Amino acid sequence: MKVPILVVFTVLAIQCSECSAPWSDVLDKFSNKTSHLLDFVRTKGRSVKQFYVDSVQGKLTTYFAKNDNPSTEYDKESFKKQLGIKRKFKDYMAQAEAAQNQVFDSMAPKKVEYDCEDDDPAIHMTTPQLIALHGYHAESHTVVTEDGYILTIHRIPFAKKASSKVSPQKTALLHHGLLGSSADWIIPGPQKGLPYILSEVGYDVWLANVRGNTYSRAHVSRNTDSFAFWNFTFHEVSQFDLPAVIDYIMEIKNGQAKINYIGHSMGTTALFAMLSTKTEYNHILRAGFALAPVAFMTNLKSPIRLLAKFSNDIEYLMKLLGANEFLPQNSVLRWLSKHACEINHYEEAICENSLFVLCGYDENQFNRSLLPIILGHVPAGASTRTLVHYAQEIKNKGRFQMFDYGPSGNLKQYGTTNPPEYPVHEITLPIALFSSDNDWLASDIDVTNLYIQLANPIEHYVVPFKEFNHIDFLWAIDAPTLVYDKLLQLLEKGVGGANNSYGGIDANVIRV
Ligand SMILES: *[C@@H]1O[C@H](CO)[C@@H](O)[C@H](O)[C@H]1NC(C)=O
Ligand SMILES: *[C@@H]1O[C@H](CO)[C@@H](O)[C@H](O)[C@H]1NC(C)=O
Ligand SMILES: *[C@@H]1O[C@H](CO)[C@@H](O)[C@H](O)[C@H]1NC(C)=O
Ligand SMILES: *[C@@H]1O[C@H](CO)[C@@H](O)[C@H](O)[C@H]1NC(C)=O
Repeated sequence: MKVPILVVFTVLAIQCSECSAPWSDVLDKFSNKTSHLLDFVRTKGRSVKQFYVDSVQGKLTTYFAKNDNPSTEYDKESFKKQLGIKRKFKDYMAQAEAAQNQVFDSMAPKKVEYDCEDDDPAIHMTTPQLIALHGYHAESHTVVTEDGYILTIHRIPFAKKASSKVSPQKTALLHHGLLGSSADWIIPGPQKGLPYILSEVGYDVWLANVRGNTYSRAHVSRNTDSFAFWNFTFHEVSQFDLPAVIDYIMEIKNGQAKINYIGHSMGTTALFAMLSTKTEYNHILRAGFALAPVAFMTNLKSPIRLLAKFSNDIEYLMKLLGANEFLPQNSVLRWLSKHACEINHYEEAICENSLFVLCGYDENQFNRSLLPIILGHVPAGASTRTLVHYAQEIKNKGRFQMFDYGPSGNLKQYGTTNPPEYPVHEITLPIALFSSDNDWLASDIDVTNLYIQLANPIEHYVVPFKEFNHIDFLWAIDAPTLVYDKLLQLLEKGVGGANNSYGGIDANVIRV
């Protein structure tokens, strides 16, 4: 506390060296300013120490931008700042542990309520309502998984002006990412939303919803407030949700269709986990298209990596993040977001939203008028366990592995003290990867590592826009030209030929 007071005092002293005020006045002003400063700092929800570190060190603008091998002076400086933040985070966690979590609540910024002045009714609409609003036919389907989760998935069965109301044979299943839902794809509207683009070029479009999100928050026997309900990660999604949804669509299509799977973020993690363990789905699907693919996690910029070192203490992490649902507005997240935001100068509404904070986006590619509707739909819900699972992947650099229950838990669960890796070499489905240089979660190194392990790679496409980030695959202003054009081109490869009955495409046909 000494230092900021000294700073204020020095400022005052300099200001008053010319005003020759009596000493007592200076003292009054000094204490007045100090208390104002303290009030100011407290209303911002920060500790004084924090304020000092921030104001003296300045905004850590390069925190997320630099690597761990500093070469230039500039890099070294930024590296030092990163270490500083890491240290602070460690102290912070230690304090929180000692104080039973209280510290987080006092230190993190206060939760801000947003009154959306915008009266746009779309903010509160469900995915099917939005689809209808955009002039398309929408369907909702209920799928029950083998382990009893009740999922609601959505569908755009045919194009807007389709002459016959019959769904095309060509089928695409879109799977959202972490904290997302089917609405993610719909939000950009008919011109820019991927489902609409696919519908217009003749696809029967299905939109999955993962267990626990807005549309799939139900179970045949488990209460949604119970730990038993939230006791899942992307692993269970890969073992139960994806197979159930795929089987259901196959049934509706009378086994006549081959599904093109298009995943974003966690939607790709679950795909890779499924294809490597339930290998029959390599033959059931037609091809996989992975946007911002996440499997190996060695080289992240997302603040989620700050949690990694605590990932072996699951109990503790669950205590901090919320035991069941990952509560998007909890204080840890606000703490993380404060850093992401100070560093990146994001506006507050974005800073408070877990999706933006954990995943990253590019400001220039972001259409600000979508913000109210985005904030109305995301985060859509995720289990804390899923975040812990990701944190474990980050900690075990380069191992794409099943959930780590600790040595004795693993022995019980898997029969080995270490969790098994997903056997990526078992994936034989033709797969195209779409990545970008600035992706906070899916770095070039990790995506390339995945690509070279695929048995039937279609292509690794790097978005030709340097700042393109994780979320931009969904909402970027130029996503249609930067990403979807290429996606369509790859999707259509081998589809138009005379030998394509769309039911028995040889995997090699669409190989580039
Ligand atoms: C203390 O600061 C407030 C706000 O800046 C001002 O209105 C008030 O007059 C000050 N009091 C003294 C004693 O300087
Ligand atoms: C949580 O899931 C694991 C793995 O499926 C299982 O072993 C454990 O019994 C579950 N715990 C509860 C309380 O449901
Ligand atoms: C931004 O979103 C609005 C609302 O969907 C849309 O009308 C507008 O065309 C979009 N702007 C750009 C540049 O994509
Ligand atoms: C279709 O398949 C047959 C037999 O495999 C082959 O002879 C023919 O050239 C193929 N046609 C096209 C258009 O690929």
